[in-house]
Amino acid sequence: MRVAGDGSGVRVEGSCKLNLFLRVTGKRADGYHGLETVMHEIDLGDVLEFAPAGALSLEVRGAELSAGEDNLVTRAARLLVSEMKISRGARIVLEKRVPMGGGLGGGSADAAATLLALDLLWDLRLPLPRLHELAARLGSDVNFFLEGGTALCTGRGEIVQPLPPPPRLHFALLCPPFGTSTAAVYAAFKSRLGASEPDAKLFVNRLQTGPPAALEGGCHNDLEEAALAVEPRLVPVLEAARRLGPSGAMVTGSGSTVFMPARDRKEAESLAASGDLGRHGRLVAVSSSLTTGGKS
Ligand code: C5P
Repeated sequence: MRVAGDGSGVRVEGSCKLNLFLRVTGKRADGYHGLETVMHEIDLGDVLEFAPAGALSLEVRGAELSAGEDNLVTRAARLLVSEMKISRGARIVLEKRVPMGGGLGGGSADAAATLLALDLLWDLRLPLPRLHELAARLGSDVNFFLEGGTALCTGRGEIVQPLPPPPRLHFALLCPPFGTSTAAVYAAFKSRLGASEPDAKLFVNRLQTGPPAALEGGCHNDLEEAALAVEPRLVPVLEAARRLGPSGAMVTGSGSTVFMPARDRKEAESLAASGDLGRHGRLVAVSSSLTTGGKS
């Protein structure tokens, strides 16, 4: 994610994420699930523009998405206004490029982008820990986008431990024309009693050794089975991606997007041009983001 500008205007070139590894550690007393997940920022993102104005307004382009109070951009802006007792506004334009309901964290990235951009536009200079506090109130994945890059995320996902960047990774994404509800997928999750526990630390170490060896057989997603149970239309999508992806395929987060690791950008692009895969949804070649998020 790239955040640039000043008090006269801010532009964000956003990003989204893949969960390269996700283990559910248990159900918590607050109803959320404990997680151990490796999040990785990729170079597909929404674009957001922020201009000074007397009141807050949001215009959404490129997708059928509410621009009302339920939009994460509006919620992030309102939270900042009420917490910091701001009397100014902003005219915000959000151009959606990340598929919605796909488990790519596009909405969470927009919320983090809004916190970072309005901090700059309104010259608030909030310290990063304070931004993290606000991010956690907006959703479990928002904190990751304040840091970006690659991170081990724990708690319900909001405790972010940045990791050294691995060698640049490349993927083809297969985004089916339907989304999956995060809450429904978590509700359908069944713990693997007695099954061996996948090891996040082992995965983190392998990640440093480079693609694609780091990813082959090492990626893991505890939520995949629940996503397939909640949305059976995802079964043939994943099967096709597993058949054609040279290094396998996996659902990211709670779905519905499936990602296929590739050896290099060329292989990612040729996978993304596959007619056989294209029958199952929109294909996009992506790579690790080179402009990691965070507050400069
Ligand atoms: O935090 P967020 O709003 O993204 O979560 C959406 C829903 O997903 C939650 O209301 C909860 O049902 C489920 N969830 C969960 N455990 C997590 C994250 C999300 O059960 N760690």
